[in-house]
Amino acid sequence: MKILVTGGLGFIGSHTVVELLNSNYDVIIADNLYNSKEEVLEKLEKIAGKKIKLYKYDLKDKSKVDKIFETEKDIEAVIHFAGYKAVGESVKKPLMYYSNNLISTTNLLEVMQKYNVRKFIFSSSATVYGDNGEIKYVETMGRGETTSPYGTTKAMIEKILEDLYFSDNSWNITLLRYFNPVGAHESGLIGEEPNGIPNNLMPYVMKVASGKLETLSIFGNDYPTIDGTGVRDYIHVVDLAKGHVKALQNAPDGLNTYNLGSGKGVSVLELITTFEKVNNIKLNYKIVDRRPGDLPEYFADATKALKELNWKTEKTIEDICRDSWNYEKNLEK
Ligand code: NAD
Ligand code: UD1
Repeated sequence: MKILVTGGLGFIGSHTVVELLNSNYDVIIADNLYNSKEEVLEKLEKIAGKKIKLYKYDLKDKSKVDKIFETEKDIEAVIHFAGYKAVGESVKKPLMYYSNNLISTTNLLEVMQKYNVRKFIFSSSATVYGDNGEIKYVETMGRGETTSPYGTTKAMIEKILEDLYFSDNSWNITLLRYFNPVGAHESGLIGEEPNGIPNNLMPYVMKVASGKLETLSIFGNDYPTIDGTGVRDYIHVVDLAKGHVKALQNAPDGLNTYNLGSGKGVSVLELITTFEKVNNIKLNYKIVDRRPGDLPEYFADATKALKELNWKTEKTIEDICRDSWNYEKNLEK
């Protein structure tokens, strides 16, 4: 079965390509290298032990998307990772986000329709739940008020996909809402490499551990949580990648939505302490004010994915800390 993976050179896409190849799928990638490097392709080929075809195209160009389907002929499903994802940047450059994320998606869907390919898996986010006071997010809650243009693109694309399905229920559409993806492949060859100073916790921890940044700021220790610091559901990217394979194999026909998370909340301090213990490294950190817009605590109810997809996370916070650091150390070499 041939799968088109858009954004397949990015953080989550690259790990998913590995898991798809491990499960004997035929994989082709479309990525314009906006937020990734071509070397990732070589690394993927090294891990997989085979050549992988890359279309270095911008999905905003519909004629290019068409060319992929015309050339490949027998694509059976699309896993759509391509998109911009920086929350803060999206607040400053909303049009860039709406244009890239929405146009890429509608182009893909229109071309899929033309070539009669009806199986689509979309990278959504827990951010679509918004701030509705609940701590354990469950799929039946519905979408809340999003807090950034990035989040709004995710909610809008979910809505577009719902409208599409209701117009033509021969589509098979799976919306996967990721919690906090972190970690790296155990080979140390692929992982997350954000440009500039990271905004997210785990990439920032890596830069402090490697001495590239001096001190980690913990954004608040007066939340009503286990130790006062923010609590999130961190998911190892390899578990997340496997979730896509399970969705491809086990999602029932129709339109289905799943949380992909561990179901367990971990605080900033717990993550730091685990990182220090597993890797035998002392992290420099200080407590600072809360970051505006942050929620105190949320995590997934991941029971639907277990029941319907037969998927759950297998890796621990220890695995996450070890694999992230292993990748970071490899970067130094
Ligand atoms: P990433 O930036 O590492 O990967 C995205 C890839 O898409 C990049 O390689 C980029 O070059 C490519 N791309 C972007 N626009 C493109 C376009 N117009 N045409 C072709 N290629 C394009 O991001 P990621 O962390 O791997 O995230 C993958 C998806 O998962 C994104 O849609 C993201 O919004 C979503 N998601 C990510 C997180 C997270 O924390 N990483 C959480 C929830 C959802
Ligand atoms: C954010 C986005 C989410 C996105 C995710 C991963 C929002 C509302 N959510 O989630 O859409 O999917 O990033 O890209 O913007 N922290 C520190 N110090 C730091 C960085 C973070 O203490 O230097 C704390 C935060 O306060 C939070 C936790 O660590 O409690 C996780 O933060 P982060 O990794 O940025 O992810 P989220 O804010 O959960």
